[in-house]
Amino acid sequence: QGTSKINQLGHLEIGGVDTVELAKQYGTPLYVYDVALIRERARSFKNTFESLGVPYQVAYASKAFSSIAMVQLANEEGLSLDVVSGGELYTALKAGFPPEKIHFHGNNKSIDELAMALEANIGCIVIDNFYEIDVLSSLCRQMNKKVAVLLRVTPGVEAHTHDYITTGQEDSKFGFDLHNGQIEKAIELVKNQSHLQLLGIHCHIGSQIFGTEGFVLAAGKIFGKISIWKEKFQFVPKVVNLGGGFGIRYTKEDDPLPMNVYVEKMVEVVKGHSEKLQIPLPEIWIEPGRSLVGDAGTTLYSIGSQKVVPNIRKYVAVDGGMSDNIRPALYQAKYEGALANRMNDECSETVSIAGKCCESGDMLIWDLSLPTVKAGDILAVFCTGAYGYSMANNYNRIARPAVVFVENGEARLVVKRETYEDLVSLDLPLKAEVGQP
Ligand code: LLP
Repeated sequence: QGTSKINQLGHLEIGGVDTVELAKQYGTPLYVYDVALIRERARSFKNTFESLGVPYQVAYASKAFSSIAMVQLANEEGLSLDVVSGGELYTALKAGFPPEKIHFHGNNKSIDELAMALEANIGCIVIDNFYEIDVLSSLCRQMNKKVAVLLRVTPGVEAHTHDYITTGQEDSKFGFDLHNGQIEKAIELVKNQSHLQLLGIHCHIGSQIFGTEGFVLAAGKIFGKISIWKEKFQFVPKVVNLGGGFGIRYTKEDDPLPMNVYVEKMVEVVKGHSEKLQIPLPEIWIEPGRSLVGDAGTTLYSIGSQKVVPNIRKYVAVDGGMSDNIRPALYQAKYEGALANRMNDECSETVSIAGKCCESGDMLIWDLSLPTVKAGDILAVFCTGAYGYSMANNYNRIARPAVVFVENGEARLVVKRETYEDLVSLDLPLKAEVGQP
């Protein structure tokens, strides 16, 4: 995948850098990102739109992995940015990301977060509910600001994916319902607010989706309403944002489509509907997260203890776990792994990779084939670039790992490893005079 290969020492190399050296230099666990692969993914989305000659925006969904360097990389590649909290917005602004290319999502943005977005003059706010229309319009009046908005709809399309990460079905906390008049009410309210400029419609039908059918259905439902909107409110969307959710290959069982196929299908469908309705072709926006950074990330761990349960299995423990990758515990997500320091050794045993957290559910990979594993070996777990660091936590007061970008034979530390001092830095003592370590 990407620039990964096996070097002369039999070590895993990414971006021209020996991962065993990275583990030595920066310690483990360590997230390593193949920058060239992120660039390639970004360019492939953009080039597909360019070659089809349609107006578009590709926004990186920064919830997949947000850091100053990552946001700057997204900017270098000419992406827009989707943020969903004051923290992600702050990161983007700190990184110098152009505010006019930032889109702000979320089903419960606070007044402070909305004020921060207006203050920064960001590109658009994706309004999720009636409460937000109220809060945002009164804030705009108070602050004397105008802002472009999209309305998020729930198209009632269920993507085939894990329940926890499906957001497009009818029974959803997100967006205005499309089928029962909610969206029409929202359009009317926004149209009556001179401070809000209604740009278009947004939907997101789920994550880790392998087919194009869900997007086709969702677009069909949205376009099915446009003649009503046009007639009743003289509203024709200038922007149709079909969200993210394009699936990637975590293991051999996953069978994703090449990314251009999603884009080509979306463009075909949106063009078809627009021609039929005789409306100008709207800008097509998408917001991929996982598919931009997921397979570019690899986590390096050091192997420690082992336990054999006779006739059942061998547990091999690493120095991280659900604190740096909660996806197996939360979604039963599956990953592949290999020994980065012995890539050419024959696989000779099947082991299960355990984390170090005090919880039986803290298992990273069940039944992985590896060469006979020794303490000190470096385990590389692949495809951890999305929702790995961004969902990392301090359970058991485990410090979060560092993040390194590699490209053209060079490594750059982009997020420092947390220290024990960082872990207690927000704590205050029970009594004023105690608490010094
Ligand atoms: N746009 C919206 C409105 C979203 O809610 C999401 C993801 C995306 C874009 C980006 O989706 P992507 O292209 O990354 O699939 N923590 C889960 C994934 C949750 C996704 C939530 N929304 C996981 O680890 O699988």
